[in-house]
Amino acid sequence: MPEQASRPTMPIPADQVTYLIGTAARAPSVHNTQPWRFRAGDGAIDLYADPRRRLRVDKDGREMLISCGAALFGLRLAVRSLGYLPVVELFPDPPRLRLLARVSLGEPAPMTAGERQLLEALPRRHTHRGPFAPGSVPAGLLAALQHDALAEGATLALIDRSLGYQRLADITSAADRRQRREGDVQEEIRHWSRDPDDRRRDGVPAAAFPTRGYPQPGRLMQRDFDLGRSLGLLQTEGPPAAVTAILLTSVDHRADWLRAGQALQRVLTHAASRWVFASLHTQPLENASIRLLIRDRLSLPGAPQMIMQFGLAHSTRPTPRRSPADLIEL
Ligand SMILES: Cc1cc2nc3c(=O)[nH]c(=O)nc-3n(C[C@H](O)[C@H](O)[C@H](O)COP(=O)(O)O)c2cc1C
Repeated sequence: MPEQASRPTMPIPADQVTYLIGTAARAPSVHNTQPWRFRAGDGAIDLYADPRRRLRVDKDGREMLISCGAALFGLRLAVRSLGYLPVVELFPDPPRLRLLARVSLGEPAPMTAGERQLLEALPRRHTHRGPFAPGSVPAGLLAALQHDALAEGATLALIDRSLGYQRLADITSAADRRQRREGDVQEEIRHWSRDPDDRRRDGVPAAAFPTRGYPQPGRLMQRDFDLGRSLGLLQTEGPPAAVTAILLTSVDHRADWLRAGQALQRVLTHAASRWVFASLHTQPLENASIRLLIRDRLSLPGAPQMIMQFGLAHSTRPTPRRSPADLIEL
């Protein structure tokens, strides 16, 4: 997606601010914490992290920044839909750690057909924890997703179905067993998962997770949001995932986490435009030594940021988001 490097002159249209923030906020975020805030000025929209929503297990804020990076991609796409090139400055005022990016309107340039498809697919994208439909992903899509990741400064490494997958599956299951013994991790999941009658606009809703049913053949162990409470409404039985992939960055600092998030949202939205969805698995990456082990055992050429499995699905169900008015940084 094209961007403009130099400073812009166009003011942000006041009547588009809600649209811009709402589009950004459709992004995935760990446990649907939505750890972002926005400040709209005349000339730019600033994206802030909201550390009150950072998970305790996410000690250095890596998952929070990946989530915010995903929102940043949505904001860029929304700017494109207004007919301008986005001008993006990462960390425009470095001492202000929470201020992650400043996005303004650059030169006018009409949206491309590819960008329009992404925008149309954005509300359809969801984290797919239920069964995939049988079938392989459309020809050429994986190469296109790898190109998306590269264009955002990340790498989408495809994991081979035999040895690579088995190693990853074993490590993921071991990490899951370990986290099940950690009371604070379980408490945090309880805090961010919602029963079917809960009307809150954040957290993972019961409709988006199963009561039980893991592990499934060909599916990596998924995070257990139900925790024996019989809240989950999803079915799980189904064919294996078509593809397993890991999103990598060559370096592992805050800017890389923001890049990984932008790559994640671009890849997931592009896949959704072809009715391909992904389950996301980060519990093994929340432990530094397990993260290193994954990098080592799979000979990955970078730091693993997100683990995902892709497959086909014929329906979608969006999860709730807080309204743009609740996301304003004062
Ligand atoms: C950094 C990050 C880590 C995530 N980790 C997991 C995970 O380990 N397991 C999982 O099922 N979903 C994971 N997710 C998906 C979120 O739970 C999901 O994005 C959120 O609940 C909102 O739902 P949606 O993606 O369907 O819009 C993760 C998302 C992000 C951005």
